[in-house]
This record gives sequence, C-alpha cells and structure tokens, in this order.
Amino acid sequence: MLRAGPERSAVHSRAGLPPAEAPGAAAYKEVLGRFCTGLTVVTSSHAGEPVGFTCQAFSALSLDPPEVLLSVQQTSTTWPRIREHGRFGVGVLAAGQEELAQALARSGTDKFRDVDWRPSPTGLPRPEGLLAWIECELVREVVAGDHLLAIASVRALEPLAETAPLLYFRGRFLSAGGAA
Ligand SMILES: Cc1cc2nc3c(=O)[nH]c(=O)nc-3n(C[C@H](O)[C@H](O)[C@H](O)COP(=O)(O)O)c2cc1C
Repeated sequence: MLRAGPERSAVHSRAGLPPAEAPGAAAYKEVLGRFCTGLTVVTSSHAGEPVGFTCQAFSALSLDPPEVLLSVQQTSTTWPRIREHGRFGVGVLAAGQEELAQALARSGTDKFRDVDWRPSPTGLPRPEGLLAWIECELVREVVAGDHLLAIASVRALEPLAETAPLLYFRGRFLSAGGAA
C-alpha cells in the first residue's frame, strides 16, 4: 500500500507540441465535455468523520488483478485525507442523485451534512440510493499534469440497484430520458 504520495512518470509526450499550439482550456472543456460519462462519489473516513468527493474521471482498469483508476485534481483537499486512510469506496450514482453529486463537490463545507448514508460492511461511509459500490485499497499514484492518477485494488464489489444511472454531459446532469 502506498501512502507517501504520488510518483512522477519518466515518460513524456513525444508529440512535442510547443505550449503556444496547445489547445486552450475552453476548447478542451467544450470537446472533452461531449464524452458522456457516469458519475461516482469517492468516500472514506478521516478522524472518525466521513469524507468524499464527486468523481467523473473513474474507470475500470484491470480485471486480473481487479483494479480501478481515478483521476484526482491536485488541488483536492479531500484526497490527502483519503490517501491517509488508504481504503475508500466508489459509489456509482443512480438517476436522480444530482443533489448528492453537488453536495460532495462543494469544497470546504460539511459535505455529508444533508447526505443520507450508512457505514458499509467494512465501515466506509456509503450514501443511500447508489447503483453500485466498489471498495478499494490505494496501491499507486502517478502525477499527470494538474491531476493525479490513483490506481486502486478492488477489495469488494456490490450491485445495489437495477435503476438507470446518473450521467454527465457537457457540464450538465442527464438521465437516460433527457436532461435531469
Ligand atoms: C460533476 C462533477 C464531476 C467531478 N469530477 C471530478 C473528477 O473526476 N476528479 C476530481 O478530482 N474532481 C472532480 N470533481 C470535483 C470534486 O468533486 C471536488 O469539487 C473537488 O475535489 C474539490 O473538493 P475537495 O477540496 O473537497 O477535494 C467533480 C465535480 C463535479 C460537480
């Protein structure tokens, strides 16, 4: 288990784009925002309190061994607390859970104040109403631009509901039938 912090990759871009030709943030968001994703909340415990953040950049990574990948903003104030604990849960959001997504995205607030949650079987804070739950152990972090790639080993998995997912597209929440 790694707790010391992220490593820096020795591999660099071979495209060699000078900074002046790199696309700007607005173009990046406009185009990458067209890649529709589901949404997750990543939760853990710190000093006996629930901590967590909303995460769009979550992905399956490896089946054998089972691993998942998160991309985390280097400015996150919650991630260092999750790193310290070493174990965290990933909750896949169901359609209608946009309030939960917004609550866990508000930095510097008591994010869990209005969140309905219970401890998971291993004691991690698990919001109610999720589509699925994945319990993870952090194994590796790599610095990638202004983010960290966090690789985690999957320790337990549970499907929780058969309902539709909450989606995120072009900066907006969507349900399967249209805008949420
Ligand atoms: C829809 C949505 C998706 C987000 N996806 C990510 C993400 O993939 N990675 C990330 O680090 N933060 C993501 N965030 C931001 C975090 O939820 C959170 O705002 C950020 O970590 C700052 O809070 P903190 O200081 O408590 O960490 C997302 C926020 C929203 C609203």
